[in-house]
Amino acid sequence: MRLTDCHNFGDFRRLAKKRLPSPVFHYIDGAADDEITYRRNTSSFDDVDLVPNVLAGVETVDMSVEVMGQKMDMPLYCAPTALQRLFHYEGERAVARAATKHGTMFGVSSLATVSVEEIEKLAPGPKMFQFYFHKDRGLNDALLERARAANFQVMALTVDTITGGNRERDLRTGFTSPPRITPASAISYALHPGWAWNYFTKEKFDMPHLSGHVSAGTNLAMSIGDYFGSMLDQSMNWDDAEKLCAKWNGQFALKGIMSVEDAKRAVDIGCTGIMVSNHGGRQLDGSRAPFDQLAEICDAVGDKIDVICEGGIQRGTHVLKALSVGAKACSGGRMYLYALAAAGQAGVERVLGNMRTEIERDMKLMGVTSLDQLSRANLRYR
Ligand code: LAC
Repeated sequence: MRLTDCHNFGDFRRLAKKRLPSPVFHYIDGAADDEITYRRNTSSFDDVDLVPNVLAGVETVDMSVEVMGQKMDMPLYCAPTALQRLFHYEGERAVARAATKHGTMFGVSSLATVSVEEIEKLAPGPKMFQFYFHKDRGLNDALLERARAANFQVMALTVDTITGGNRERDLRTGFTSPPRITPASAISYALHPGWAWNYFTKEKFDMPHLSGHVSAGTNLAMSIGDYFGSMLDQSMNWDDAEKLCAKWNGQFALKGIMSVEDAKRAVDIGCTGIMVSNHGGRQLDGSRAPFDQLAEICDAVGDKIDVICEGGIQRGTHVLKALSVGAKACSGGRMYLYALAAAGQAGVERVLGNMRTEIERDMKLMGVTSLDQLSRANLRYR
């Protein structure tokens, strides 16, 4: 199987599975508890049907959008995800270059493996920094100031990782960051010599945003659940979020909002965006899917703040359904991570290109030439 054989989410996933040692693959692929929420994030789109209009003259379509002040050539961007160097040796560089080529936004995590300073040089376009609120206030200040100095236009505070989700696949595989070599994991590295060669011979794994503040994750192998549990501040509250928003003094989003009440509070504290998200089903299993929850959130705050539907997106039609309900744009993690693992920058370029082609085709088939023509009138719930 090669990159040119990858036409959809499942194809990229299969190729990633071939390329990655199993602890790394299951870290991306897995979710919390029984993974019910993870599956629902995608299957929720199947409960709504599109109702197309025809004879609309659709030879040119415009799928550009503006989200939190950023002009994007497509209504889908790469959500911030951690540890990308583990998935492909190009790490965040691959995603930054591919998203820039496609004129869309991408996020860089606090737990990224390439620094914001380096990313800035590769990607002049719209960039989001994903912020974890640590107990270490010096680290928090440094994260904010480095992202600002590196001209990241959007700051997103993750609010759904107050403690680690129960990721049983990681417990079974013993996945840690950086990877710990155990007898079982050594076998999976040996079975994936291409990955192992790149991992061990190319530049050393590092989490440059943490350097000088904490050694966990960089020099000290730890599971992500343990990292969340021990390094992040569980006392984080609305007051902290409001202060951070004021300190950033720019485009600011809360990532991981699910309730109408919280969406309204995000508006009240001055946020310009929210990601309706359950962290890809990786935190609270049984949480509602973003698409299921989107309508009530858009009804409450959709005219005051940019609402992003994050998670479960696998198809162009998923994006059109979310935008019809009222989201400004969609974002996803696994969507591009399998492609990154499969083929680095070329993989991410291909997946974004595929999604762009699908969105364009689906807009034409829906009889719309711009995204603002989509509305709930195009949808029927089963
Ligand atoms: C995760 C974090 C790191 O879900 O975003 O694994």
